[in-house]
Amino acid sequence: MTAAASAQAPTGEPFGKTKDGKSVELYTLESDAGLVVKVMTRGATLVQIHAPDKDGKLDDVILGWDDVAGYESEGNQYFGCTTGRVCNRIARGKFTLDGMSYELAINNDPNHLHGGVERSLDKVVWNAKGFTNKRGQGVRMTYSSPDGEEGYPGKLDVTVTFLVAKDSNRLTIQYKANTDKATPVNLTNHAYFNLAGAGSETVLDHVLRLNADQYTPVDDTLIPTGKIASVEGTDVDFRKGARIGKRIAALDDASTIGYDHNFVLNPRPADSRLNLAAIVRHPDSGRVLRIATTEPGIQFYSGNFLMGQVGKDGKTYAHRSALCLETQHFPDSVNQPNFPDTVLQPGETFESTTQYTFQIAIPKN
Ligand code: BGC
Repeated sequence: MTAAASAQAPTGEPFGKTKDGKSVELYTLESDAGLVVKVMTRGATLVQIHAPDKDGKLDDVILGWDDVAGYESEGNQYFGCTTGRVCNRIARGKFTLDGMSYELAINNDPNHLHGGVERSLDKVVWNAKGFTNKRGQGVRMTYSSPDGEEGYPGKLDVTVTFLVAKDSNRLTIQYKANTDKATPVNLTNHAYFNLAGAGSETVLDHVLRLNADQYTPVDDTLIPTGKIASVEGTDVDFRKGARIGKRIAALDDASTIGYDHNFVLNPRPADSRLNLAAIVRHPDSGRVLRIATTEPGIQFYSGNFLMGQVGKDGKTYAHRSALCLETQHFPDSVNQPNFPDTVLQPGETFESTTQYTFQIAIPKN
């Protein structure tokens, strides 16, 4: 794309309608360096990310569908969406705040997962406005969730801004939220990546490095036990970088059925706003994804429940053919006194930023 084209503010193109007749729009954000990102207003969802390989060839590296009906289908396991109000699990869907007890939908028996059933942030249609500035092209999506929606207290106003840098292959997602009553908030993006191109057979050949000495072990229902444990000597030690397939079989019979763990990121350097969280490398294509965040944790999920659903271009999404790296506060924080706090108070602003930088690995020989 030419520099002149990138100066235009992106506009939404029609992407179809939801079952209940709401129009959904798709915004295209492009970098002069090659990255192309498409985001739709249903669920403030990443629909496509085209990133260059070592030969400059673009491939779409995230799972998804070509139409809204795909996203509304049973096969959609939170593909690319903004996840919340509280991503990940809340034990038995219950919590107490300011002396009041709240009960949320149990949609991942016996727990609450990813914000609920009907009106979680991934299922509603957001307002959107494209913009361009000296940093690049973006789209700002807003949604006002009424008091009590999906059982959560308070009216929550959420803004998610997607920005593609002008001259590098970098997508930045910034989240902001305000409330009028104390309420738990934990927001992430749930993109499923395969750096060989979405629809490729596996991610077991990807090499992952995590900047985490510790993780939060879970019980049989994937709720944290409350312990913060060292990764040393475990199958979840990715500090030096390891092929995902190397040790995954050891976790086949665990409650997580593979990797489905929240990692505690090492403290961020004092001079930096963002902390390196993860680096994923796909040796054959040379694609590398670097994720940096302001969040204290990251869920690494190895696509264990993908079940061969058919997505974009008729491609099949097989068991472990994509991975999620969800920057977040820890699961079930609202019930875990020793985890960083996720309760947003009236008058405060929730703020969080995650950057996804696509690079090319330099061959070693
Ligand atoms: C969770 C998985 C879940 C997946 C899809 C991930 O964030 O950790 O357990 O199956 O989302 O819902």
